[in-house]
Amino acid sequence: PRVATYEAEAAQVSKGKVESNHAGHTGTGFVNFDVVSDAYVEFTVEAQRPGPTRLDFRHANGTSTNRPLDIAVNGTQTSDDLGFPGTGAWTTWKTVSVSTTLTSGTNKIRATTAGVDGPNLDSLTV
Ligand code: GCU
Repeated sequence: PRVATYEAEAAQVSKGKVESNHAGHTGTGFVNFDVVSDAYVEFTVEAQRPGPTRLDFRHANGTSTNRPLDIAVNGTQTSDDLGFPGTGAWTTWKTVSVSTTLTSGTNKIRATTAGVDGPNLDSLTV
């Protein structure tokens, strides 16, 4: 498929917990990052074709404070402190988009906490 959605709860999770206590998530849950600066979710994405691609991260942030994440593609940081602003409620899910470049075949897309707690992360659509 040209567009695919990868659930955070099915990705590789380091220092985060899969939870499902806030309605509106897709799949079976979402990832609640631990409050450390090196927690991450790493998605394994099969790019159908190399080149410029939009990453859509679906998240909830029930606070009024930005919860940034650093984004790395295949081991190289491509977004420093990508903003995940408050969504109004932990049950309100919104998308943060960023452009990147994928190589053909398997790509590793990692979202890492950046010094403060992260948002609840539901999925990545590529
Ligand atoms: C609440 C909420 C969690 C969220 C946490 C946070 O505890 O229920 O889902 O992860 O706040 O501030 O990150």
